Amino acid sequence: MNKFSQFLHSSLGNKLLMSFTGLFLILFLVVHLIGNLQLLIPDQGEAFNAYVRIMEKNILIKVVAYALYIAILLHTYKGIDITLRNRKARGGQRYAVKAVSGTTWASRNMALLGSLIFIFIGVHMSNFWYKFKFGHHEGTEFYTMVDTSFSELWIVVFYALAQIVLAYHLLHGFQSAFQTLGLRDGNYTRLFKGIGAGIAVGLPLLFAIIPILMYFDIHPMPDFRVFPGQ
Ligand code: HEM
Repeated sequence: MNKFSQFLHSSLGNKLLMSFTGLFLILFLVVHLIGNLQLLIPDQGEAFNAYVRIMEKNILIKVVAYALYIAILLHTYKGIDITLRNRKARGGQRYAVKAVSGTTWASRNMALLGSLIFIFIGVHMSNFWYKFKFGHHEGTEFYTMVDTSFSELWIVVFYALAQIVLAYHLLHGFQSAFQTLGLRDGNYTRLFKGIGAGIAVGLPLLFAIIPILMYFDIHPMPDFRVFPGQ
């Protein structure tokens, strides 16, 4: 094994990989949310449809999308691998003491929360992503596909519940990444903690609001366009 692959397999290497892929995924979520908020503009989906058409044509977006799929797979695989190894090191027990002092429920269940999010992404992509790529028939616009999905109550409930799981995962994920990157102890500790907690709760909350408002046919978003001239 050369030095680089030795480092990647080390405990610090694993932690850095989890932090960087995790922060990249959060960055994707911020961009994804801004794009999706256009669904709430009262324009029958005009801005959203134009946005998706531009995204579909852009070669740079395609490259970033492949990096995203790799990051999702790496983050999930490594997360489960680390959890199983830690459990093995504890002699097969989930935890020696039921509630280890100083740990939160989320921190003890990151692999479970992450696996649920992975399942959500699978269902979500087979629903929207697949339809957008392969089911775009004449006359059925992107907005209509999303709107049709979110007219079903169980799908709206599924999305809202998934966002609660995401919030718990992000709450601990941010703290963990800050610790790995050495940002937890210093002058800006409180600032980083505040920003992390704000994003961890704010992102899923806004993601959950979109299907709920679309279900009730409420479109309160002022007209904004992600791309000028879109
Ligand atoms: C209201 C909530 C959401 C809506 C309306 C929504 C909508 C969409 C749509 C329409 C697509 C297909 C078009 C595209 O490729 O850009 C998509 C793709 C995707 N979504 Fe979402 N999404 C939501 C929440 C989420 C969440 C919470 C996650 C992750 C935890 C997520 C992860 C993804 C991924 C990984 C893709 C594939 C991206 C790509 O290939 O570029 N989405 N979403």
